[in-house]
Amino acid sequence: MSVTDLRTTTAVRVGRVEEIPLGEGRAFVAGGVQIAVFRLRDGSLHATQAACPHAGGPLADGQTDVDVLVCPLHQYAYRWSDGASTAGAFAIGVYPVREEDGTLVVEV
Ligand code: FES
Repeated sequence: MSVTDLRTTTAVRVGRVEEIPLGEGRAFVAGGVQIAVFRLRDGSLHATQAACPHAGGPLADGQTDVDVLVCPLHQYAYRWSDGASTAGAFAIGVYPVREEDGTLVVEV
């Protein structure tokens, strides 16, 4: 059993889906954890840690496409799938997120 298997998560309601314009992200606090939630133009939802591990950039203000999130400060790109940097440097935490009756629910 890995360490990851031992981690427990909590489902936290953080806001309404319509609070996030298509193609953008917004910062929330979920269970005491600062996160950024994104609603891509294809309607998919993603959640990451709020601060970039490089120098604390506000990831909620980053540019998005279907594959990556780009930090607004120094343009490091992070994959939605696993949070890894496309440059092989830092990685960000990613969290499961879903919509339930218009409410954003994040597992932290
Ligand atoms: S703070 Fe995000 S890339 Fe530098």
